[in-house]
Amino acid sequence: MTPAKVSLVTGAAGGIGRATAIRFAQAGAKVMIADLNGEGLTETAALISAEGGDVQQHVCDVSSEEGVAGLMQATLDAYGTIDWAFNNAGIIGPLKGIADTTIEEFDRVIAVNLRSIFLCMKAELAIMGPNGSGSIVNTSSETALKGNAGPGAYTVSKHGVKGITEHAAYEWAPSGIRINAVAPGAIVTPMTLGMRAIKERPSPQPNGRRGEASEIAEGVYWLCSDAASNVIGHLLVIDGGWALA
Ligand SMILES: NC(=O)c1ccc[n+]([C@@H]2O[C@H](COP(=O)([O-])OP(=O)(O)OC[C@H]3O[C@@H](n4cnc5c(N)ncnc54)[C@H](O)[C@@H]3O)[C@@H](O)[C@H]2O)c1
Repeated sequence: MTPAKVSLVTGAAGGIGRATAIRFAQAGAKVMIADLNGEGLTETAALISAEGGDVQQHVCDVSSEEGVAGLMQATLDAYGTIDWAFNNAGIIGPLKGIADTTIEEFDRVIAVNLRSIFLCMKAELAIMGPNGSGSIVNTSSETALKGNAGPGAYTVSKHGVKGITEHAAYEWAPSGIRINAVAPGAIVTPMTLGMRAIKERPSPQPNGRRGEASEIAEGVYWLCSDAASNVIGHLLVIDGGWALA
């Protein structure tokens, strides 16, 4: 029997991370879930356990080197390795253009959305490299595909996620490690439900609705699975056709 995959999901206290952790567990994977929000993590863990899944949780700040080191150690202590990693934690940051964004605001968004991906991938590759196998998916955004009237620092950070994914994917493909990214469109999650301006507007997606977190989870699971074994450095856009606008 093939051993169960060991997976890691950051930003798993709700939204896209929670949906993906549940999808991974439904596929038979063991799941380490991480977030700053311990209460949300406990809810996610309960949902997975209720379906008979194998889950562990770890509270940490993925923008800090110590936070990521602690998360990787906790994963190794619990499960011994990492096969699938979904680096997904993120914040929207201030809803301001570049000229109005302060240096502190810019640095925080870049730290949470981009430096975290750098830190997590560095640590994950140190584990997957010697294994000669593994799959990493990073959360970018539909906003990484073009200029945007929305939050400036966020848009910059998500372009950066696309860039670091493509660079690392090319570098690590010969070692048997696949790295891809997902670009969600307008998805119903705690992040967007908290934004009054977004809630009151009709969906920007031409299919006339907002996407569900489970629809992103399905794409992330596919990217991690062997069905996507020839997919490397890809940005999987799941946005109801928004990018075509
Ligand atoms: N919802 C959308 O429409 C949409 C669209 C494109 C991209 N995204 C991206 O999807 C990802 C998931 O977002 P979501 O929509 O599920 O929202 P969400 O707010 O439910 O999820 C983000 C999670 O990240 C966690 N987090 C934030 N900072 C952290 C830190 N420093 N360390 C650890 N955890 C931290 C939060 O506590 C939260 O649980 C984010 O990267 C977001 O930018 C979302």
